[in-house]
Amino acid sequence: MERTKIAVFASGTGSNFDRIVTEMQGGRLSVDVCLLVCDKPGAAVIEKADQYGIPSFVFDAKQYDKKESFEREIYEQLQKLEVEWVILAGYMRLIGYTLLQAYPERIINIHPSLLPAFPGKDAIGQAFDSGVKVTGVTVHYVDEGMDTGKIIDQEALRILETDDRASLQRRVQEVEHRLFPATIQKLISE
Ligand code: GRF
Repeated sequence: MERTKIAVFASGTGSNFDRIVTEMQGGRLSVDVCLLVCDKPGAAVIEKADQYGIPSFVFDAKQYDKKESFEREIYEQLQKLEVEWVILAGYMRLIGYTLLQAYPERIINIHPSLLPAFPGKDAIGQAFDSGVKVTGVTVHYVDEGMDTGKIIDQEALRILETDDRASLQRRVQEVEHRLFPATIQKLISE
């Protein structure tokens, strides 16, 4: 099976990163996760990558004068590894011109709401507090905006009377862990 080389960008826990790797290892996702890119030294996702033997590029944006400077370094790594797709899985930073023009329609993101509702931070909390009865998960192409790129796929999820924030978060993440690998597989097989 031919495998598509991808890099995953993440800043936090890395449960989506984890799922992508286990789906790959189980032969259900024909990718090769070549690199983790992380902008938060000490994030739990780095340890996960280490355990899987996946190299990581970890940086602190404060050490650079501008976005272009660290994105150039990231791009060098991506090129060296011949990465074809960039997968954002909880990367808490807007992508800049350097990477956008290097990977046109090849950078995707997962967001825990039915965009265009509840973009930005704490989308699950925003949905919960707003009183909507349905939320969900969106996978979309990345552009220069905050969660504004063209939508690729979505799955809706009913918010239950019995839900609290924690249970809603768990249920949204279950959808993410199913939808993201499936969408990636669809895209790379097109
Ligand atoms: C996910 O909810 C994703 O939709 C959002 O950030 C979160 C990352 O979670 N963009 P994890 O680190 O993959 O557990």
